[in-house]
Amino acid sequence: MTPQPVDVPPVDIPPVETQARTLAGYADASRLRQVHDRDWVLDQVTGAPRTLVDLGSGIGQLLQAALDRFPSLERAVGLERSPHRIAEATTRLSASADRVELHEADLTTPGPISHRPDVVTMTSVLHWLYPHEDRIFTWVREHLAPDGSFLLTTYHPEADAAGLGGEDDIVRDALTDLGIGRTVVPARFTGHGILPIATRTRTTDDLHALLERHFTVAAVHDRDAVVSGVDAPGYARFHAATFGDYYARLVEPARRPAFFRAVGAAAARRQDERGHVSSMTVRLWRLAHRG
Ligand SMILES: C[S@@+](CC[C@H](N)C(=O)[O-])C[C@H]1O[C@@H](n2cnc3c(N)ncnc32)[C@H](O)[C@@H]1O
Repeated sequence: MTPQPVDVPPVDIPPVETQARTLAGYADASRLRQVHDRDWVLDQVTGAPRTLVDLGSGIGQLLQAALDRFPSLERAVGLERSPHRIAEATTRLSASADRVELHEADLTTPGPISHRPDVVTMTSVLHWLYPHEDRIFTWVREHLAPDGSFLLTTYHPEADAAGLGGEDDIVRDALTDLGIGRTVVPARFTGHGILPIATRTRTTDDLHALLERHFTVAAVHDRDAVVSGVDAPGYARFHAATFGDYYARLVEPARRPAFFRAVGAAAARRQDERGHVSSMTVRLWRLAHRG
């Protein structure tokens, strides 16, 4: 049976396509999920670090927290692909400008830097580097100071048989609401060259095997990342700030405002039905040079 489009009411959100294009609004949006990684990760830093490099540094929140927390830090370096995010980080970190370096970089083809950091962090980024994670692991191995730590967080949504899970599921609900048959959604991902996030995320076992080629896995810690207590417009903003137009490309440009509304509505429905929008394991890896 062909699904009928449901009427998704418009919600009052800022120009969400612009927001998605520039990944704006992350300071607010990250309160829902990613912000909780920050102290968790920095709690793993021991001693008095002098140089910290954050990979995929976004709007500079982790760098800011590290600078506040570790007066010993002489250099806080961010590598980030998005120029919009670098601009926002530059403003955020302006009070510590003499201790900060921000570089536009693609972590799938990372170039050398002149530092030997005693701490390297990478939070909520690795899935975007799939299937080339090896390249950044090699880079970290080559740059990390001999006694340094590499602190990495990875998200692990459960994948279904088609390789969809986590945000992919919410997007599938939204597309279904827009009249796209539920069963054809995986083929639509493939047809638009969009790799599901749950496919981009390797299992913890696969990742362990990959990491062990480069590092000693000194410790792992898991927590549940539960996204909850958000309404439809709030979730649409979270989605746009976190995923940009990655998924929105599944629909033609004229339908993108409706797409973002539908994503918000799908999330709100899950909140009503399940008491939360999503829940997944986040793993924090503490990695060191191999002995
Ligand atoms: C979900 S955000 C995480 C930001 C920050 N690390 C945090 O924990 O809040 C993912 C970040 O990785 C960046 N990113 C994604 N792919 C990248 C790549 N190939 N090279 C550099 N940065 C990348 C994005 O621009 C974005 O800022």
